[in-house]
Amino acid sequence: MVDYQRLEGNAGDTSATAAAAPAERSWLPGVGVFFVVVGISVLGFISLQPGPAPPAPPVIAQEESGWKAEPSAVKGARGRQRITNGCAEDDLWLAHFAFQTPYFPQDLKLKSGATHEFAIPDVGLASTRFWPKWGCDVTGANCKIGQSGGPGESCPAAGCAPPVDSKFEATFGCMPGTAECAHNPSAPAERLGSTDWWDISHVDGWTLPYKVEVVGDCPMAPKTIDCSRLALSSCPGAEDLGIANMTLRLRDPVGSGETIGCYSPCAKLTYSHWGQGLGFTPDSKEARDFCCPTPPISPAQCSSGPIIRTQFVAAVHLLCPGVYAYAYDDGTGLAQCPAGTRYDVTFYCPQ
Ligand SMILES: *[C@@H]1O[C@H](CO)[C@@H](O)[C@H](O)[C@H]1NC(C)=O
Repeated sequence: MVDYQRLEGNAGDTSATAAAAPAERSWLPGVGVFFVVVGISVLGFISLQPGPAPPAPPVIAQEESGWKAEPSAVKGARGRQRITNGCAEDDLWLAHFAFQTPYFPQDLKLKSGATHEFAIPDVGLASTRFWPKWGCDVTGANCKIGQSGGPGESCPAAGCAPPVDSKFEATFGCMPGTAECAHNPSAPAERLGSTDWWDISHVDGWTLPYKVEVVGDCPMAPKTIDCSRLALSSCPGAEDLGIANMTLRLRDPVGSGETIGCYSPCAKLTYSHWGQGLGFTPDSKEARDFCCPTPPISPAQCSSGPIIRTQFVAAVHLLCPGVYAYAYDDGTGLAQCPAGTRYDVTFYCPQ
């Protein structure tokens, strides 16, 4: 995984920091499989760029309120995920990738208060990531926040932002009773099972505040994850990273240099984009106590090391209760729900 981390933007972000850790948590069966899926999907992106034109994505009309009756207008798919712009005034754009990328329209514009419902195939959909962009031009590019690359995404003149975005990631499982489930990209001889795996960790950092509501019967996951107070102004301005005290605030490389993201300690040490972060590998001696790759760092070493004393972890625990702030944190990192559970995600404007 580490090899891909150095590639630019989301195409290269395997969430190695997130990925390395939960795979060791044997009480979560299938976690390793999920992250292998993510890793393979990254390979997929690389080989797809600049691949042939994608097939027309299935799109469902925007909904004003309430979930669309199942199944959706799109044959063989239903609305299992929706994303709302919770800003009072501003537009947001949604970027995404999926294993069958690009599956949905890229850079989908959402006006203030608008919701988009995504038609997820009944056969399942592996390795998706959705993240919000803010302050974009009319085409949905050159955004102040979220222009961190990935399939179908352009980079501004200064280069892509480091992928510290607030994001929702999921592998959507196959609906029970579906005749031919999608192949599992990590084990092509196998099919996707009937479990969703999803993830909202902050092991890379954060950009916009958000809330996730889990709709349906999923006793193993929290009903609501409320990170609506996750403000950029709460990002530590001086964090002790062992080698130095450094700001975790990601500055706009043009204009006023305002804060447009918050690095996690690991991301600050390993994402060198824009000359604002450092280029250590996650397993280097400078970064490993903050990134916690296993090996060499065991879960116990990680959870008793310097990462837990950082202001970053304290801020996530305060403003985003119950959510992973680092590899091996307690709380919700990777969650699982029965396929057909619906995820209602709202992104708010930067604070
Ligand atoms: C960072 O600042 C703290 C508090 O001032 C200090 O104790 C610590 O030694 C500093 N760390 C480094 C690496 O300079």
